[in-house]
Amino acid sequence: MKRLLQVMLLLAAVLGLGACGREAAPAEKRLVRVGFSQVGSESSWRKANTASMTAALSEEEGFELLFDNAKQRQENQLLAIRNFIQQDVDYIVLAPIAESGWDDVLQEARDAGIPVIIADRMIDVQDRDLYVSRVGSDFLKEGQQIVRWLERELERRGETGKPLRILHIQGTDGATSQLLRTQALEEAVKAHPEWEIAARLPGEYTEAKSYELVRDFLRTDRDIDVVYSENDNMSFGAIRALEEAGLSCGGDGGVTVLSFDAVREALRLCMEGKISACAECNPLHGPRVAALIRQLERGETPEKETFVEEAFFETGDVTEELLRSREY
Ligand code: AHR
Repeated sequence: MKRLLQVMLLLAAVLGLGACGREAAPAEKRLVRVGFSQVGSESSWRKANTASMTAALSEEEGFELLFDNAKQRQENQLLAIRNFIQQDVDYIVLAPIAESGWDDVLQEARDAGIPVIIADRMIDVQDRDLYVSRVGSDFLKEGQQIVRWLERELERRGETGKPLRILHIQGTDGATSQLLRTQALEEAVKAHPEWEIAARLPGEYTEAKSYELVRDFLRTDRDIDVVYSENDNMSFGAIRALEEAGLSCGGDGGVTVLSFDAVREALRLCMEGKISACAECNPLHGPRVAALIRQLERGETPEKETFVEEAFFETGDVTEELLRSREY
């Protein structure tokens, strides 16, 4: 009897014959379950990236997001991915800390039938089918743009061919953004025998680490023309250390600071002239990742790799209006 009543109620709901003649509520839409393994919260860029991902993969957008912050440790990312596999999510999104070390865990995801999307940095795996798609920046292009800017700037000052000492502050070791921004600088140094890398400092993309390293470096060597800093937060730390040591940043006589990301605070320093040039690295991957998942849900095959559009800024380009309208 109970069973018969249930069937009748179900029929009534399907035929729109609900109580008091009201229309039946539409069947609840299933949320797409996504596990996102984020590197950490080391930089302003990363915080903007997390905000973009959580907004785009929200319940209102049709997703259930399982978020894990790996605090800059690859072993935490491996744990998070295995946890997502156990929870049988529909998709895994990985923002990898470094390029290597992913083959085994991504094979486990594949064995479980879970598609993996790579966001931001790239991975180096034997089998490219271990991930379906990657969306991120063209980090080599960013580095080449900044190096070309430096060449033009030296020409403008009439200093082409003169000795130049560069302090190189590097991001997290083995990350694509570190490897390729470093490659751009190293290629330029090879092409300019008069350019010298005074030191390479492992700033790990954080302001605090960069500040300490630059402060200690300047105790024994103050002969620096250029700081090539692989992200904005490390530039902030470097500028603080340089100024505390009595060195000025920017202008024809000061240290030329070159930076990556172009977050609002860096663009303000660029407008003030303390950062001379800034290559944008766009962190707003959330809507791009959501669009990729929707494509996959429709049974389509997305592009294997998509590079995002990025701008380039020098001091004269930045206005108050630009800063006001900046999303991050
Ligand atoms: O991989 C992107 C880099 O990672 C950004 O340049 C940096 O700020 C971040 O932490």
